[in-house]
Amino acid sequence: MTAFSLPDVPIIQAPMAGGITTPALVGAVAEAGAVGSFGFAYSTPEVIVRDMAEARALTNGLINANFFVFEPVLPPNEADIATATEMLCALPIAVDKAAYDVLREPFVPDLEAQFDAVMHHAPDYLTFHFGLPPQQIIARAQAAGIIVGVTATCLEEAHAIARVGADFIVAQGYEAGGHRGTFTAFPKADEGLSSLSLTKAIAQWGGLPVITAGGIMTGADIGQAQANGAAGVQMGTAFLCADEAGTAPSYKAALTSWHDRRTVMTPHFSGRLARALENTFVSEMTQSAFLPFPLQNTLTGPLRKKAAQDGDVQFQILWAGAGFQKIQSAPATEIVKRLVDDMRNC
Ligand SMILES: Cc1cc2nc3c(=O)[nH]c(=O)nc-3n(C[C@H](O)[C@H](O)[C@H](O)COP(=O)(O)O)c2cc1C
Repeated sequence: MTAFSLPDVPIIQAPMAGGITTPALVGAVAEAGAVGSFGFAYSTPEVIVRDMAEARALTNGLINANFFVFEPVLPPNEADIATATEMLCALPIAVDKAAYDVLREPFVPDLEAQFDAVMHHAPDYLTFHFGLPPQQIIARAQAAGIIVGVTATCLEEAHAIARVGADFIVAQGYEAGGHRGTFTAFPKADEGLSSLSLTKAIAQWGGLPVITAGGIMTGADIGQAQANGAAGVQMGTAFLCADEAGTAPSYKAALTSWHDRRTVMTPHFSGRLARALENTFVSEMTQSAFLPFPLQNTLTGPLRKKAAQDGDVQFQILWAGAGFQKIQSAPATEIVKRLVDDMRNC
């Protein structure tokens, strides 16, 4: 194990895969004294090496690199692909049916290759989402002095994280934006614990340090997480409108203006449950068939690309946590500074 520690500013900017966590964002957050995180889940080794080098050139601060632990994916059968494709073709957005011919092996990235790439400019923290990474990856990271964390959504997952020898737990509550980090895509029983209830349960058990994730938007929220036993917090939505974030301008505009909308859990963008702002895609797809994760993510790629090109927020992924109304649009250093001031005044 590696001894767990956080900087004086007990905030980890959440890893957010899909181009949001740019080197500029990670560098700025780390320079401000918090932990900047890369969401490298879908990144190639070349991009991982490049982005880590770019961020390291910007800061000597603390950097986290995050990966998904994908469940094995069986090749889908033609009938299931056809059904899922028909569902997308029925949506009111002009994408040619042929554009959906995108499913090719390998369906998931090679975690070992991603890990080798990240070790070129070793991060300070390494975190994993959707389950336990292979033991040898944890051991190699810890041997290099890297602190290893894994997401838990319930106490049983927290116990398993401790058993595998990780150094800390990211307690992800039901309010969290983006993918719910359950160890299996659709667990038989998901209690849907709030971030504070989960934090409290894990802290009382006391196996490993806890970082609270989900709906943390203000200094007062950070104080509450600490009062429930957290060592710190992981905040995603709070950084989506940072100037340096790779969030599309139309997505940022929805986050700052759709205050009358709600966030909902949907499996239809990717094949796994994730919290997003409710838009036309989400409401039209409610009853639709979909492929397993991450095949559905690949299949919806052409539709999402067209929507992004057109600035059409009704068909983009708008991941957002339940506290999105409190989002701030500012440089990342300013967001961190305001959160720290806010914490001290609470
Ligand atoms: C746009 C977006 C993308 C995300 N991508 C990842 C990811 O790649 N890896 C990960 O571990 N968590 C990811 N998450 C979840 C965050 O780690 C964290 O649990 C969540 O942001 C906390 O809730 P909040 O958004 O209310 O702060 C993502 C969250 C968002 C909003």
